[in-house]
Amino acid sequence: MISVLSRKGGVGKTLLSVGIAQVLGERGHRVALLDRDPEGSAMGWQHGAQAVGTALPYQVIGPIEATRLDRVEFLVVDTPPNDMRTLQDTARQSHVLLVPLLPGAGEMDRLQETVQALSKVELQDGVQLGFVLNRLEHDNVSSAMKPALEELGYPVVAQIRKAVDYQRAFGQLIPAHLTAPFREALTALEVLE
Ligand SMILES: Nc1ncnc2c1ncn2[C@@H]1O[C@H](COP(=O)(O)OP(=O)(O)OP(=O)(O)O)[C@@H](O)[C@H]1O
Ligand SMILES: [Mg+2]
Repeated sequence: MISVLSRKGGVGKTLLSVGIAQVLGERGHRVALLDRDPEGSAMGWQHGAQAVGTALPYQVIGPIEATRLDRVEFLVVDTPPNDMRTLQDTARQSHVLLVPLLPGAGEMDRLQETVQALSKVELQDGVQLGFVLNRLEHDNVSSAMKPALEELGYPVVAQIRKAVDYQRAFGQLIPAHLTAPFREALTALEVLE
């Protein structure tokens, strides 16, 4: 079980969840993406795809369907912002945790809330934790992020640049030229070889 978590909203949890699910699905794995966000963005992504007849290589499910999952190799979980209970409950059950964040000093501060929430959870043995920088631009603020996180001992497993094509991908497959960061994250966390 691979979960994508952050206490902060709008940092790219849903994009990262969908990207991870797509990359695993395209490798031929059976993947379910569990949408634990009542806003239902991941579910909306699937509905969008169905509306235009695009087949996604993973299925998006809700909490009820998750109780009767069968023969799924990877369960990817998208979580809501500002929901301590769901964050901690998801983290407790996960083998891989991904925390996306945006560039900026304020974002680093907000990240501490997520790290603190995770520190209060009894995590699975051998759990892998990785941070994903999202919406990076070619400026000093963005380039300062990776070193700053690493100085705190937080491993950066992927970097996603800001691109309007990520926004346009809602309800679609993420275009192949934009999927490298998702593969990198999975490789760094030893989910993929
Ligand atoms: N790298 C990127 N480049 C451009 N737009 C992006 C990028 N990442 C995310 N976005 C856009 O930013 C918005 C928020 O992203 P997303 O929905 O993935 O965040 P979230 O953390 O799931 O938000 P919420 O907390 O509301 O669930 C979306 O409109 C998405 O298309
Ligand atoms: Mg979301």
